[in-house]
Amino acid sequence: MKNNSRRDFLRTATTSVGLVLSAPVIVAILSSCEENETTAPPTGKKVVVDISTFTELSAPGGIVSTVVTGLNADNRVFISRVSDTEFVVFSTICTHQGCEVGSPAMSGMHCVCPCHNAMYSHVDGKILRQPSSGSATDLPKFVSEFNSSTNILTISA
Ligand code: FES
Repeated sequence: MKNNSRRDFLRTATTSVGLVLSAPVIVAILSSCEENETTAPPTGKKVVVDISTFTELSAPGGIVSTVVTGLNADNRVFISRVSDTEFVVFSTICTHQGCEVGSPAMSGMHCVCPCHNAMYSHVDGKILRQPSSGSATDLPKFVSEFNSSTNILTISA
């Protein structure tokens, strides 16, 4: 009977310590499971792009890499046409070590970083393949709104 009490006590104590020690680990695991989507912090400024100046963006599936003055610290951004009325704008700066991610070689191909081979979706900049060492996250996106009657894309810088 006494041995059972000691055994019960040890079992309860071990379980309790295990739960207390596990709580931070469980929180860390849950945090790492959150969606890996990044949106660039808005500065309150807006820039505009006349979509009709890019033949590559005349139909859904098209993508260009271009400099839009005042956006992304004047580094290139990708503008991807995902439907007749929707565009996704995202940075070309690799989230691994800051190299410029290359444009897709042809429509339907993804964007590959030349430095360590990370691959991002040509549709929205989501990370599809991690670099050869270390890790990368999605390319930051910029909020945009398209006016189909004027062909103007307004982007929050
Ligand atoms: S800087 Fe892009 S994969 Fe390393």
